[in-house]
Amino acid sequence: MVLVKAENLVKHYGTLCAVDSISFEIRQGECFGFLGPNGAGKTTAMGIIYCFMPPTSGSVTVFGLDVTEQPSAIKSRIGVMPQDDNLDPDLSVFQNLIVYARYFDMPKKVSEPRAWELLDFVELRDKADVNIKSLSGGMKRRLLLARALLNDPELLIMDEPTVGLDPHSRHAVWENLDHLKAKGSTIVLTTHYMEEAEKVCDKVAIMDNGRIIETGSPADLMQRHGGNLEKVYLHLTGRKLREELA
Ligand SMILES: Nc1ncnc2c1ncn2[C@@H]1O[C@H](COP(=O)(O)OP(=O)(O)O)[C@@H](O)[C@H]1O
Ligand SMILES: [Mg+2]
Repeated sequence: MVLVKAENLVKHYGTLCAVDSISFEIRQGECFGFLGPNGAGKTTAMGIIYCFMPPTSGSVTVFGLDVTEQPSAIKSRIGVMPQDDNLDPDLSVFQNLIVYARYFDMPKKVSEPRAWELLDFVELRDKADVNIKSLSGGMKRRLLLARALLNDPELLIMDEPTVGLDPHSRHAVWENLDHLKAKGSTIVLTTHYMEEAEKVCDKVAIMDNGRIIETGSPADLMQRHGGNLEKVYLHLTGRKLREELA
């Protein structure tokens, strides 16, 4: 079953074309990754999927619902881990989860046990009463993941989930992702790390300058172009760059 379907999706910011007519499908149970250099349009494409901003043109449906017509219905069924940390710095780890749960109208008797369960999942139970300011980067990313899972989302959206993390923290997030995948979660993420894409993504779309230049499973792309995924990525995005410079 197709959970996300984009057709000729375009997004302009003023005169800048950030997403330039892309089409893709994300199927239930799949881990789908957007890869591409800074400014490629990955965050913008994700922002449209989670109804943060409307497309300029084209159509995007999530769970068969149009993002411009039924954003609230979509938002209640997805979890979002943003690129930037937007945790509330005045609250503790536990309070951050409880306050966020209010957006989903969760009563405390539901949100509190759920918050403990998720703190266990991301191994932050012992930090429950700690202020956000004293968390490491890796702990913040894990808390953002726990927060994204509060409403038990059917679709989890993660923008650069492991950026800037040390290898241990990165592996901790990958372990969380493995668990979510094993229970059939649908995940869409962006990453700059080809090792990560190869490890966790069933399918990737390589983006550059607002366009999708190649789609397929990491294995397909490696077979099609030769070499590991990093080599494929550098070849495809670099070729574009060389063409532009020529
Ligand atoms: N809110 C915004 N206003 C104007 N331009 C933006 C905005 N957000 C992103 N852009 C521009 O759109 C392009 C795509 O950005 P983005 O989607 O963040 O790419 P990525 O996530 O792949 O790095 C970039 O040129 C960026 O500078
Ligand atoms: Mg981005």
